[in-house]
Amino acid sequence: MEISAFQKARYGYVPKLPASLSGPVDRIAVEFGSRTEALSDHAEIAKIFKHTYGKPIVTFTEGKNENLGRRLKVGVILSGGQAPGGHNVIAGLFDGMRKGCPESELYGFLGGPAGLIENRAKLLSAEIIDGFRNTGGFDIIGSGRTKIETPEQFAASLKTATLLALDAIVIIGGDDSNTNAALLAEYFLENGSGIQVIGCPKTIDGDLKNRYIETSFGFDTACKTYGELIGNLARDAASARKQWHFVRLMGRAASHIALECALQTRPNVCLISEEIEARGWSLAEVVDLICDSIVARAENGENFGIILIPEGVVEFIQDVKRLIGELNEAIAGNEETVSGLSSPAEQLRWFSQKISAAAFATLSAMPPGIAGEFLADRDPHGNVQVSKIRTEILLIGMVEARLRKLRQEGRYRGKFTAQSHFLGYEGRCAFPSNFDADYCYALGHAAFVLIASGLTGYLSSIRRLTSPAEEWTAGGVPLTMMMNLERRQGTFKPVIKKALVDLAGKPFAVFAAARKTWSVETCYRFPGAIQYYGPPELCDETSVTMRLEAEGGS
Ligand code: FBP
Repeated sequence: MEISAFQKARYGYVPKLPASLSGPVDRIAVEFGSRTEALSDHAEIAKIFKHTYGKPIVTFTEGKNENLGRRLKVGVILSGGQAPGGHNVIAGLFDGMRKGCPESELYGFLGGPAGLIENRAKLLSAEIIDGFRNTGGFDIIGSGRTKIETPEQFAASLKTATLLALDAIVIIGGDDSNTNAALLAEYFLENGSGIQVIGCPKTIDGDLKNRYIETSFGFDTACKTYGELIGNLARDAASARKQWHFVRLMGRAASHIALECALQTRPNVCLISEEIEARGWSLAEVVDLICDSIVARAENGENFGIILIPEGVVEFIQDVKRLIGELNEAIAGNEETVSGLSSPAEQLRWFSQKISAAAFATLSAMPPGIAGEFLADRDPHGNVQVSKIRTEILLIGMVEARLRKLRQEGRYRGKFTAQSHFLGYEGRCAFPSNFDADYCYALGHAAFVLIASGLTGYLSSIRRLTSPAEEWTAGGVPLTMMMNLERRQGTFKPVIKKALVDLAGKPFAVFAAARKTWSVETCYRFPGAIQYYGPPELCDETSVTMRLEAEGGS
């Protein structure tokens, strides 16, 4: 296969490691903190995680250690959506293991957790790893969204790991996959197995973070990729002066991606789902917010603009959320009937009898093509698939209708033309930025040290990420420490808490202080393409979100 000159150059990039991890393995000391607790529901979570609850935080320092040189056999899984840097986690793990003992072996489970359940694994040689260093995507072994849930799946996982004589499994995933990692670690111990389980924090959505996990990997690269494209659209809008661009951005629940892109590019409007929910806004109020900017800019002769929309927003808008809830209830148990409804008119008729008049009014106010998307297939958990709803088209249709009304009332004299965009998959497999390349390699290396130290039920953790990489601190955080109980499908389950945008935090405060000006004036900022080579202030720049969070305050 012919590779690009850039890919060839990236093979040669040497990721930076924190000082505590860059020496020989007999110079990596492991320090243990004191006992930890879950975020809440301590007693219930301690009962579920009898063997793994309450472990201490672990930090690696430079110092003498003779215990990390044993031969290891490890299996690695990529779980969930792609995120730039996954290949470097695997490379960092592999290099760490080989540094500990050159005979160590790394297996990659194919197609996500299903590979573990079904015993589909491949031995990763140095040649294979070298072909994926510093590249985006998860194609080295593939990924998948299978959850290890049933007793049979847990038993099959243990069987595979035992057959392969693994010492440990590393699960690279988001909050759900790492909840799974915690349950697997506990299950192995409960069943008398010493096979360890370590997690690594992945997701472009940026919602797996807390005091000890400053960001999930992939967020930086994905946002920089989207930021470049939004900047290009903004420049085009300001040049042609005739179009509004409605840009929906990936991020299933939290609006971190939209907020980061707004901080990078200064659009005219950026919806933040968490704020919309906190204020209890309806769809009509969200449409009004957008129209306010369009009307004010038209007064200045600026009939163009940029609107950013987080893809999960529909589930945070009060009346749409209620509609989705009622639709989910109506569908539950009636899946066959619903899939048999052949025309949109028939669908509407059926649902009109099953949902409240208020919910039906919300549905009827939507452009017909989009209303149908709310009635489409649910995911395996019975939830609407928000990434399949074209919210940007929904909003364009509703904004057009509202502007017509305002024009009739003499309150709008502009010209409105809109273009819709969805930026999602474009950002998930980009070549990792230097930050993600370094961060991921360090996460993989730290996972190796956790395994070699005999630990299980930990998430690999690299901290002080806004400092130069050499000064980062590395270690592990017990997975149970990030958990609380949440109601899932009718029962309370222990889960790693998802981090939504903090409305009291500095990133949101900085955005909120500037957005009034951005909504009327043209203040676009053009981040340009990710820089891989050049001065550190260009190449090693972290996300604005992480920088502001590190500064603290609001
Ligand atoms: P993860 O949380 O698994 O990393 O995935 C994030 C994400 O990219 C979301 O932003 C998006 O809604 C979803 O995956 C899309 O999923 P799919 O790849 O199955 O279309």
